[in-house]
Amino acid sequence: MDIRVLVAYATKYGATAEIAEKIGEVLRQAGLQTDVLPTDRVGDLTPYKAVVLGSAVYIGQWQKKAATFLRANEKALAERPVWLFSSGPTGEGDPVQLVKGWRFPTGLQPIADRIHARDMALFHGAVDPKKLNLIEKWMVKNVKAPLGDLRIGMPSPHGRVPSPMR
Ligand SMILES: Cc1cc2nc3c(=O)[nH]c(=O)nc-3n(C[C@H](O)[C@H](O)[C@H](O)COP(=O)(O)O)c2cc1C
Repeated sequence: MDIRVLVAYATKYGATAEIAEKIGEVLRQAGLQTDVLPTDRVGDLTPYKAVVLGSAVYIGQWQKKAATFLRANEKALAERPVWLFSSGPTGEGDPVQLVKGWRFPTGLQPIADRIHARDMALFHGAVDPKKLNLIEKWMVKNVKAPLGDLRIGMPSPHGRVPSPMR
């Protein structure tokens, strides 16, 4: 029997899309028929036996499209196994420690609880200063956020530093 899995994501600058593609690749290697789609291109969840949903994090929040997807599909998500991931911290070391224990947007936690999310992962992210708008540049400078691609195991298309890829 074919098992079809959805990896849905919301990204602003592409780092989270690449993480989602990587997750999809691993699931396909495991023999699962996997669709990797931005949340705004996902239609009916009926064909999917399981869902992985992730978003880039900006100022402690998921991208609006991912939050909307989670809210709009709560019932369908509650009926299948769901894994959640966020892409964020750009410092060296454990991502959860870097953001002082933050794992998931507080406002969305009740939905995550109601759908009985199997797990929540916080992955390192990537910040390419060349892509940021003026306000974002000011923000990352103001909070002294490290710049670069800290995503482990990802190709480095943006040529950022530092990059601990392995
Ligand atoms: C203005 C700004 C705010 C950010 N805020 C957070 C944050 O609150 N928590 C976090 O972990 N990462 C934060 N990040 C890092 C991004 O989440 C990270 O770069 C992510 O991988 C970007 O994903 P995307 O390329 O898919 O948009 C921030 C980045 C910028 C530029």
